[in-house]
Amino acid sequence: MNLKNAVDGGPSQAALDASGLAKAYVQGQTRVPVLEHVDLRIRAGELVAMVGRSGSGKSTLLHVLAGLDEADKGRVLIRGEDMTAADVNGRAAIRNRNLGFVYQMHHLLPEFTAEENVAMPLRLGGQPASVAGSAAQVMLEAVGLAHRTTHRPAELSGGERQRVAVARALVARPALILADEPTGNLDRDNAAHVLELMRNLCREQGIGILIATHDSAVTQGVDRVVSLEGGRLSG
Ligand SMILES: Nc1ncnc2c1ncn2[C@@H]1O[C@H](COP(=O)(O)OP(=O)(O)OP(=O)(O)O)[C@@H](O)[C@H]1O
Ligand SMILES: [Mg+2]
Repeated sequence: MNLKNAVDGGPSQAALDASGLAKAYVQGQTRVPVLEHVDLRIRAGELVAMVGRSGSGKSTLLHVLAGLDEADKGRVLIRGEDMTAADVNGRAAIRNRNLGFVYQMHHLLPEFTAEENVAMPLRLGGQPASVAGSAAQVMLEAVGLAHRTTHRPAELSGGERQRVAVARALVARPALILADEPTGNLDRDNAAHVLELMRNLCREQGIGILIATHDSAVTQGVDRVVSLEGGRLSG
């Protein structure tokens, strides 16, 4: 019995439903097409990996799906909410309600401790500091960083920062998690641990997860692998 699905009206409600996405970057006279026509649906509780050579557009696609960047064409629904129809504030609100994002470059806030960074989505969601802080501690423990909660990003290693960023994306149990190379800076044991944590949350909480990765350990442990090539997804 998946409570989240029960609350949401059943597993038919996709965590992500993207269709007909196209995007080109324009630099002066040059147009760089990156996404030609991308369709992607991720069910609640489904774990999907996205592969593709460097420069194929994986980060671009994740940013478009998260409403951090705009597509030229197409539509993105996050748990039924139309990201592409919303303005900047609307997109931020949809993100806060539904989405956890792990950036390729971790994007932690430098002046805040690990615990404060992880607590941030809950604080933005209106949780009191004590509740958010406790949840952040639990999440940091889950990624093996119970001993680093008061460190600021500059006082953490690259892999530790990445694990803090993963903890921050997971802490609010969002409907959808988009993760850009979340194991890129991790050794094999820590990568396996982070993937296991994401897989458990996916199964137990019905979270849809999309991971852009070059890591074969990730692609072997997911439900489905899609490949981005020539601006299109296959698989
Ligand atoms: N702001 C931008 N302006 C112009 N071109 C861009 C911009 N951002 C990315 N690109 C180009 O778009 C293409 C896709 O970049 P993107 O970062 O999405 O690739 P990626 O698949 O994530 O690569 P990697 O595996 O190296 O992270 C690349 O050719 C890149 O040079
Ligand atoms: Mg990238």
